[in-house]
Amino acid sequence: MPKRSSFKNRFAFYLLAIGSACGLGNLWRFPYIVGENGGGAFLLVYVFLSLTIGLALLIAELMIGHFSGSSILEASRRIAIRTKIPFTYFGWLSVLISAATLAYYSVICGWVLHYLTQFVISLLQSDTNAYLAQMSIGLLQKNGWLQFLLASVHLLLTVVIVVKGIEEGVERWVSYLLPVFGVLVIVLLMGSLSLETTPEVLRFLFYPDFSKLNWGSLGHAVGHVFFTLSLGFGVMVTFGSYLKEKQHLPTVGLRVTVIDTFISILSVLLIFPIAFSSSKIPLTDPSLLFDALPQYLSTFKGGVLFGMVFFLCLWLAALNASVGLLETVTANLIEKRPDFKRSRAATIAGTAILLVTIFPAFSQSLFKDVKISGHSIIETLDLFLINGLLPVAGIGMVVIVLTALTEKDRSDLFIDPMNLTSRIMYSHWKIFLKWLVPSVVVLGLLFQAIGFFLKYRN
Ligand code: TRP
Repeated sequence: MPKRSSFKNRFAFYLLAIGSACGLGNLWRFPYIVGENGGGAFLLVYVFLSLTIGLALLIAELMIGHFSGSSILEASRRIAIRTKIPFTYFGWLSVLISAATLAYYSVICGWVLHYLTQFVISLLQSDTNAYLAQMSIGLLQKNGWLQFLLASVHLLLTVVIVVKGIEEGVERWVSYLLPVFGVLVIVLLMGSLSLETTPEVLRFLFYPDFSKLNWGSLGHAVGHVFFTLSLGFGVMVTFGSYLKEKQHLPTVGLRVTVIDTFISILSVLLIFPIAFSSSKIPLTDPSLLFDALPQYLSTFKGGVLFGMVFFLCLWLAALNASVGLLETVTANLIEKRPDFKRSRAATIAGTAILLVTIFPAFSQSLFKDVKISGHSIIETLDLFLINGLLPVAGIGMVVIVLTALTEKDRSDLFIDPMNLTSRIMYSHWKIFLKWLVPSVVVLGLLFQAIGFFLKYRN
């Protein structure tokens, strides 16, 4: 096995892990999921799950990587040989999820690209703000070819980066941009919080009304925790394999989880005051971010520049995620077929993913009549992958960490001898992994199945 390079400094590692966790999941997906599930009560459940099962699993994935010094497929294969249990399937499940997620994620990245170009075009108009005010994602959603074209451009760029082997450079550059993005979000947030809808939004977000939860809410919260922390894809396993000897995994996991959750909360605080001030913006739809932000930016001078930088940063963060996903698929393909060159493996993976992209890209046009339990193709793909398959892959990680590592391996990696509380935390962590993660995942899936069944019957 090749020796993995250690990071020169901790800071670079944090930027990389946070760069992988923060992105479209926080800014685009989280707000409409909160809207769909009624606000406050869902937010509370989400934050609780993020800090319990999310954190516990993040530590577990980092631990698998740190222990084995390899990627998820290689780690699961070696563990399978040692334990004679077919763990390799879990490894392959993660790879499959990465490929399928990239197919549907590329379409959303295409939306971001479209908005970026629209902001540039708006600069050429005589009345820039009027142009921004009429921007709507609805037209793009109905144009399957344009969505496919944009997704292809995005995917092509991703393939080029992976083929050229410059992903580490890209990842690092994007992660340096992250602080800029953070500052921009905070500036926009201050503006949006001064809107007069803010008191109403604060009530919606922080007053938990549990009657607003539905059968799908738990599954949504679990799925989103996995997606936003990039759990179940095997990426965090790879990152764990990069970590230097003396780093304390629980501290690393805690910092990444807290920052990611904090950014998600900032993003709902940014979007909802804007969305509440217009009756035309549906709170429960994937179009939420794309409809709300330009509306707001059109209300003040210079808004277009904020918009351009915002969508540029968002797209770069999304490109970073796409590169991470394609890299996982390519690396595992090469491991399976060592006769494949890197360029060939990435091109084959990219082409296969592009073909799958046809379905989400045309889901509101050519395939608009295809509905599965009332959901369009793109929504079904999202539900199936993120709320369904990811948590199952997460259970795989739990099984690996609990069976393949010995008690001594785990406690050596978890407990800091200088810190007494880490001993107590260790026993909590094990209970979370053994009991809380499986029961919450199973309940989430079960409730969703009941919800589907009830809806189907009506
Ligand atoms: N966590 C990322 C977000 O919230 C999305 C993501 C999922 C990702 N899987 C990944 C990013 C793998 C990098 C690598 O936007």
